[in-house]
Amino acid sequence: KTLLNQDLAGDEILVVSNREPYIHVNTPNGVKVQRPASGLVTAVEAVMRACSGTWIAHGAGSADRDTVDANDHVRVPPENPSYTLRRVWLSKEEEQGYYYGFANEGLWPLCHIAHVRPVFRSTDWAEYVRVNQRFADAVIAEARSDNPVVLVQDYHFALLPRMVRAVLPKATIITFWHIPWPNPESFGICPWREEILDGMLGSTILGFHTPFHRKNFLDTVDRYLETRIENEASTVSYGNELTQVKPYPISIAWPEPAPGECDVAACRAEIRQALSLPADQLLGIGVDRLDYTKGIVERFQAVERMLELHPDMVGKFTFVQIAAPTRSSLDEYQNFEARVRALAQRINQRFSSGSYLPIILKTEHHEQAQLRTYFRASEVCSVTSLHDGMNLVAKEFIAARDDEQGVLILSQFTGAARELHEALIVNPYHIEEGAEALYRALRMPQDEQRERMRTMRLRVRDFNVYRWAGRMLQDAARLRQRERVRSRI
Ligand code: G6P
Repeated sequence: KTLLNQDLAGDEILVVSNREPYIHVNTPNGVKVQRPASGLVTAVEAVMRACSGTWIAHGAGSADRDTVDANDHVRVPPENPSYTLRRVWLSKEEEQGYYYGFANEGLWPLCHIAHVRPVFRSTDWAEYVRVNQRFADAVIAEARSDNPVVLVQDYHFALLPRMVRAVLPKATIITFWHIPWPNPESFGICPWREEILDGMLGSTILGFHTPFHRKNFLDTVDRYLETRIENEASTVSYGNELTQVKPYPISIAWPEPAPGECDVAACRAEIRQALSLPADQLLGIGVDRLDYTKGIVERFQAVERMLELHPDMVGKFTFVQIAAPTRSSLDEYQNFEARVRALAQRINQRFSSGSYLPIILKTEHHEQAQLRTYFRASEVCSVTSLHDGMNLVAKEFIAARDDEQGVLILSQFTGAARELHEALIVNPYHIEEGAEALYRALRMPQDEQRERMRTMRLRVRDFNVYRWAGRMLQDAARLRQRERVRSRI
């Protein structure tokens, strides 16, 4: 954290993301503040608390307009205000075209390659362009200097870097792409591929989670734009501009010991009691947004196969899936939810006896502290994304296990698998392999669990979210310094 503050000394920081860190919801008991399920928010929030600044985001909550001042500003977090949140309000058409349409029916499946066909409509594209311009205008309006540091988050804002650069040529624009980047052939089906690449190259620094995604991006740029790529220096020169393209693996804030948190034995008892399970029930946990990229169907199939292959586990093992509904107005997500529910029901019918059900599916909102109790109470955590930029749930599970017990099952197609080698790494498409990994996890000796968990804990503690942001900001500070020297010559 200290490093972060040094890097930022005196610089103005503006963050832009679609998702806001605090959603204000009207309830019969007044306005409630919720934290959305989003890896992006988990990471960037921690950084903003440490370094202050202004965060510009889409005002999505039903009660937002009651909570802001005349400039659409509100100080957050509610319990300890340390930075400013500026909401941009979108019309129904804008939200439909830009967020649901182009971002989530186009770019999301395009970049994830989870075998869901991307949809590209020119009407959505027009809204995407328009909303990017509206957010760029908000950045420009919020900037107090002509050279702010602007941190642009994710696939919702591919065009914004160029738009901000046009008005604030001296700004340091750091864009971080939180989802995977596909190979050039896959990306090439996007009708507006050149515009997207051109928009992103308005950035000073462009970050991806892994070297692999960075390479895919450089290959894509090489294929579709006239640029010069210096692999050694990690730069793309395009027109008169230079963009540094680098991997910055994202992480979480390493948790401070939480006063009053239940010890692991108490967490285990609390969760089993809440779920009416026997005290010695073996527990698996999955925590995801209800999204087709997360491999929830394959995970349930692996549970089913494990129970088939190892009947000794029937009655003894329960898998709890917490799945926060997301983007629910899209057909693809509604169909996915129906598939997940039907599969859980079928597996439950097949193996139920008395009050025993092998799968418990919970789709309501869960607070961070509740999730941590689940993580601490479980034998195994299953992260089986079909494709994922990083996946912070894997890191949160590890951070929650200060008892150095518990096994992580991790998809080889997550960015996290490049760092957490001591997890049981699986191909989520291979159901037998998933089943055997689950069985192995449930029977893993405590010593082996400790050895694996200890190594992973050290890694996540050291490579935490402050280091993620710190490395980007250090690179930015170096470039700014060079620029200052150059302008004096
Ligand atoms: C991913 C994206 C984030 C997004 C999150 C939740 O992690 O990279 O940008 O915030 O999913 O999705 P939502 O559409 O609910 O914001």
